[in-house]
Amino acid sequence: MTISRRQVLLVGGLGVVGAGVLSLPLQDIEAKSASALDSRELPRPFQTPFVQAPILRPDRSDIDPVDGVPVQYFTVAEVAASAAILPRLKTPILGYNGIFPGPTISVEQGTKAVLRVRNQLPATHPLDGHLLYTSTHLHGSASLPQFDGYASDITNVGFRKDYSYPNFQPARTLWYHDHAVHNTARNVYSGLAAQYHLHDPLERALLPQGEFDVALTISDAMFAQDGSLGFDDNDHSGLWGDVILVNGRPWPVMKVKKRVYRFRIVNACISRSLRPTLSTGDPVTVVATDGGLMPVSQSVASWRHAPAERYEILIDFRKYAPGQRIVLRNLSNKNNVDYKFTNSIMAFDVVPDTVDTTDPTWNTIPAQLAPSDVIALQPSAATIQRTFRVKRKNGMWTIDGVTWQDVIASEFRKVAANPDLNAVEIWEFANSSGGWFHPMHIHLIDFQVLSRNGRAPFAYEKGSKDFVYVGEGEKVKVLMKFGPHSGRYMIHCHNTVHEDHDMMVQYRVGPEDAADTITNNPITAAPAQWDTGLA
Ligand code: C2O
Ligand code: CU
Ligand code: CU
Repeated sequence: MTISRRQVLLVGGLGVVGAGVLSLPLQDIEAKSASALDSRELPRPFQTPFVQAPILRPDRSDIDPVDGVPVQYFTVAEVAASAAILPRLKTPILGYNGIFPGPTISVEQGTKAVLRVRNQLPATHPLDGHLLYTSTHLHGSASLPQFDGYASDITNVGFRKDYSYPNFQPARTLWYHDHAVHNTARNVYSGLAAQYHLHDPLERALLPQGEFDVALTISDAMFAQDGSLGFDDNDHSGLWGDVILVNGRPWPVMKVKKRVYRFRIVNACISRSLRPTLSTGDPVTVVATDGGLMPVSQSVASWRHAPAERYEILIDFRKYAPGQRIVLRNLSNKNNVDYKFTNSIMAFDVVPDTVDTTDPTWNTIPAQLAPSDVIALQPSAATIQRTFRVKRKNGMWTIDGVTWQDVIASEFRKVAANPDLNAVEIWEFANSSGGWFHPMHIHLIDFQVLSRNGRAPFAYEKGSKDFVYVGEGEKVKVLMKFGPHSGRYMIHCHNTVHEDHDMMVQYRVGPEDAADTITNNPITAAPAQWDTGLA
C-alpha cells in the first residue's frame, strides 16, 4: 500500500471531511481525492428527478442473406459534449451520441444486431491529452473475437467500426463501454458507457416490462472547481468520487406506484464497489445475474456489487404508503473510500396513482425463474483446474505476474490458458492481499461460481455470471464450458485503473489455427474503416 493511498483511506474513513465541510482548510490529499467544487455548486442527495437514457432506434432492419436471421442496424457516434450533472455548472463529457449514459439498445433474442460506432471524438482527451482511439465492448455478449472490443483492436478518431452481435443467449442486461487499451478507465469515466437489453419470451412473461423495467447505471464522480470531471486514481489504485450518479444524475428521486418494479442495476464505477440496501430494512428479490435469469430468485437484504457486475432486482412497493420515501442506500465494502453522501444512491417516492392490475407482473414475485445450462454444469465434468493469482508486481497490477504489455510484446500470441472448444474447466482466482479487491471478468463465456474460500457462493451469485468479486484474501472458483466461438479473449480486473495498468491477459479457445490467426483475428479480421460520413 502506498503512502498516498493510506492517507486517502484515512481521509475517507472520516467520511464527512471529503465532501461535507469544504470550509475547512483541505490537506493536499483531500483536495485530490474529492470534488473541489465550491459548496454552492456541490450537488446534494435527492434534489433532482430520476431520468433514464433513451432507447436507441435502429436505422433499419433486414434479413441476413446467408443464414436468414433478422438483423437490426444501429449507429452511435462517440462525441465530446456537455452534460447537466451539477445544479448550475456544465460538465464536459465524452458520450455515445453525446449523452451519459449512452442510449440503451433493446433487442430480441434471435435478431442479430450490427452496431456502427463512429469515432468523432477530439484527437486527444481534455483531461490528460491521451489519444482518443476507442474500442467498444458489449459486456455480456458471446461475440466473435473481432467484434468483442479487444483492447488493442482500436478505432481511431475519424474511423468507424461495425460490431456484429449474435443475441442468441438467454435474456440479460448487458452494457457496452469503451475498452481502449490503457485508457479504458478515463474513457468510461468520461461517459462512454451504456446499457443493452436482450429480451426473450421467458423473461417477457415473468418480469415487469416497459416503464416498470427500469435501467439504473450507477457511477461515482469527483468534480473540479469549474464543474469538469476530476480524475485521481491514487497511483493506479482506484478512483473514488464523492458524488454518486444514477443514469448521470446525482442521487435522483424516482416516483413509483404501489406495485412491483424491476431494476437492471449496472455498476459503471471505475473502482467503487457498492453494497445496496433499502432504508426500510426490507429485502429485495434478485432475479437475474450477469448471464440472465437465475434458476430461483433470491431474497437478500444487501449484496456486494462490483464495477461491471449486473444484478436485476424486484422491489415491491405495494406495502408502502403514498408519500413515503424509500432510499436505496449503499453500505459500502472494504477498501472503498467513502464520503459524506456515498452512503446513498437514490430515492423512491411512492405516489398514489392507480395501478394497472391487468398486468400480472404488478404483484408477482416469481420464485422459479429459468433453468440454466451454466448452472446445470457439474464440477465433475471439468478436465482441468487452473489458478490465477491476482497481485501487484513491480508497481504494476498483474495476473500471475503477466500484464497486457506482455501480451502486446508477444504480438498478441501469449495466452494465459488454452482450453479446447467445448472443454469444461474450473478456474480459481486467488487474491492473497488484504488491501485490495479485484473484480474479475472473463470475456466470451458465462460461468457458475462454485465456491469462495471453500464455502458456497452468496445467494445472489447463484446464477450465471461473467464476473466474480474476488475480495480481500479470497480464493474463488468458477466453472465453465468454453464456446461457442474459438479464438482469443481477454481476462481482466474490472477496476479499470487496474485493468489499464495492466491487469489484463488473454486466453485462447481452440488451437492457434487459421480461424484464430486470420478469420477471427481480434485485430485484423474486421478493422475499423475510414468514416466518410456518407455510409
Ligand atoms: Cu466490461 Cu473486458 O469488460
Ligand atoms: Cu466483457
Ligand atoms: Cu484489480
